[in-house]
Amino acid sequence: MAREIRLNAFVMNCVAHQSPGLWTHPRDRSSDYNRLPYWLDLARILERGRFDGMFLADVLGTYDVFGGSPDAALRNAAQVPVNDPMMLISAMAAVTQNLGFGVTCTLSYEPPFPFARRMSTLDHLTEGRIGWNIVTGYLNSAAKGMGKSGQTAHDARYDVADEYMEVVYKLWEGSWDDDAVLRDRARGIFTDPAKVHRVHHDSDDYKVDGIHLSEPSPQRTPVLYQAGTSPRGREFAARHAECVFMSGPSAKVIGPRVAAIRALAPKYGRKPSDILMFSMMTVILGKTQQEAEAKHAEYRRHVSHEGALTLMSGWTGVDFSGLALDQKVEHVQNEAGRSAMDNVTRADPDRVWTVREVAEHVGIGGAGPVVVGTPQSVADAIEQWVAQTDVDGLNLCYTVTPECFEDVSDLLVPELTARGLYKKTYQPGTLREKLFGAGHARLDATHIADTFRHKG
Ligand SMILES: Cc1cc2nc3c(=O)[nH]c(=O)nc-3n(C[C@H](O)[C@H](O)[C@H](O)COP(=O)(O)O)c2cc1C
Repeated sequence: MAREIRLNAFVMNCVAHQSPGLWTHPRDRSSDYNRLPYWLDLARILERGRFDGMFLADVLGTYDVFGGSPDAALRNAAQVPVNDPMMLISAMAAVTQNLGFGVTCTLSYEPPFPFARRMSTLDHLTEGRIGWNIVTGYLNSAAKGMGKSGQTAHDARYDVADEYMEVVYKLWEGSWDDDAVLRDRARGIFTDPAKVHRVHHDSDDYKVDGIHLSEPSPQRTPVLYQAGTSPRGREFAARHAECVFMSGPSAKVIGPRVAAIRALAPKYGRKPSDILMFSMMTVILGKTQQEAEAKHAEYRRHVSHEGALTLMSGWTGVDFSGLALDQKVEHVQNEAGRSAMDNVTRADPDRVWTVREVAEHVGIGGAGPVVVGTPQSVADAIEQWVAQTDVDGLNLCYTVTPECFEDVSDLLVPELTARGLYKKTYQPGTLREKLFGAGHARLDATHIADTFRHKG
């Protein structure tokens, strides 16, 4: 049987997320992002479709590269206003049993000690359904908001991230023994102090001298996602990530990135299959091809091209406001993210992109491909995409929400299931067990985190 495809919903605690302008569509509910009923409904819809996870993006700054100010981002709700994603998770966990939550948190602006506790808290409250998308940010505005003159250089951010990971592994994996907590009412001992170990870490960037504040949670370390695929980003992924999330407009762009990260896994003592690969995709479904295409055309009428170029400017660090619409996009290397610029320049040298084409492409579903059709034709396209790229799953962007996720749960998932390409039921256990199988509640001994476990 062909391998099962995994699905995450790619969302953010803001309006419209990767489809700038579509909040103006009369059926779109993303403007309700600041109210819990919106999120609870969404979580239930995803669980109905047996999605593996809700993947929550986040930024700590504004997209102010376009035109040199946040005005266009504010006008178009291009990922601003944006609320904290972590706050949503307990509520959604309470109305679901199996859905995982991959939450994006930048490590650049928060010490590891309190962050590790917040993640442990969520792992407890979700009963082991939490994942962390490890990011370092790409917006200078975030650095400025945090009182810095600008963000740390691109590759150096990954070096700092490597060390941050060491500290959180020590806290999550090395501080409390599995049998430290006794809850012994008869003897009046809650925790055996001999089984709780002090974490010492001392470097220029991070100093910790203390015990982790949370008792061991179901997964200890949350499922680790990461989403950078530059050469330095790939090394980071191969060392730490259990799931890699990438975006690109075509299989030609995605396939080599998947292969490059899989090939690096053995360098870090891991098997290529230890890392699940997810790529971004947007699907627009109809019961007939005509219906799907009409929906696509209707959605397109709501796209904000200014909003799309505002996002692209933030991702790439290049101000697209000064470029003519018919101008070819030229490659630039700077300290913002690198893959977003590569997507429309050197990742596929045979494809030349104009600024207008970028605006139109990014306007629906960001940098990923858009597939429009019936459940059957979309399932065909997904099968072909998997064969061409070797990805394990898709992070689906939304167009008009939640209707597009309802379409996936109610139209596409039955078709994928009938083809044997999608699970009939959720696996029991933690998010890590659902992704990697029974017995994998915690990170394997081959993962670098094992180095930081207390070995007695
Ligand atoms: C699909 C995708 C989703 C991402 N989500 C976020 C996010 O929510 N927050 C964030 O700060 N960075 C996010 N990133 C950015 C990456 O973490 C990384 O900074 C970026 O891809 C640049 O890394 P690179 O130059 O190694 O490719 C995302 C990247 C991709 C490809």
